[in-house]
Amino acid sequence: MSGFVIAVDGPAASGKGTVASKLAADYGLPFLDTGLLYRAVGLAVLESGGDPGDPGLAEAAARDLDLERLHSPQLGGRQAGEAASQAAAHPGVRAALMQLQQAFAAQPGGAVLDGRDIGTVIAPDAPAKLYVTASPLVRAERRWRQLVLQDARLSLHDVLEDIRRRDDRDSRRQSAPLQKADDAVLLDTTDLSIRAAVEAARRIVDTARARWLESPAPGQG
Ligand code: DC
Repeated sequence: MSGFVIAVDGPAASGKGTVASKLAADYGLPFLDTGLLYRAVGLAVLESGGDPGDPGLAEAAARDLDLERLHSPQLGGRQAGEAASQAAAHPGVRAALMQLQQAFAAQPGGAVLDGRDIGTVIAPDAPAKLYVTASPLVRAERRWRQLVLQDARLSLHDVLEDIRRRDDRDSRRQSAPLQKADDAVLLDTTDLSIRAAVEAARRIVDTARARWLESPAPGQG
């Protein structure tokens, strides 16, 4: 990996997607939201009438993933998030999606990727790593404000339950669990506005970039 790669990991609705896409725009780097890959796999299994908890079905869907599906508006929904978390626990699914993510990270000019295992597994040598988090209640409130626009009956309690269940599954699974890389910088957005979170992220990345530019072999150490 020789370009400047920014790895942004963290739990659901922590603000990592907002921070990562803004960093990509500011530094002029291509951006991949890797959660969309797992969401597309989970949704493909559901649409075929299957259970995303079935390793064989989920792995087959990951191998056949149609990248056109990444634009589907349905991917942002609750069902897709839950199906993604179930499908993502299977090692075969993660293996099938790994090469695509690593190729994206290896672009000569660099890239920004957000997910759960970018700094630990997909791009462990990334020169800039952030672990973005926030309290479960604040994350649930943020997600609820988006989702209630589609479903007025949805309660904050339901969304908080979703978040807790996904956190639990994503961080306890054996294969590439959600965890902070040792060299990632923690950014807690619980009490931050979007603007303040993005500014804090930019300061972290500026420091990492200066270090990377000064190193004798950029991106190698
Ligand atoms: O970031 P998101 O909420 O769109 O992710 C949906 C699910 O996909 C998440 O609960 C766990 C899984 N996921 C993963 O295991 N690894 C990634 N790099 C990205 C997402």
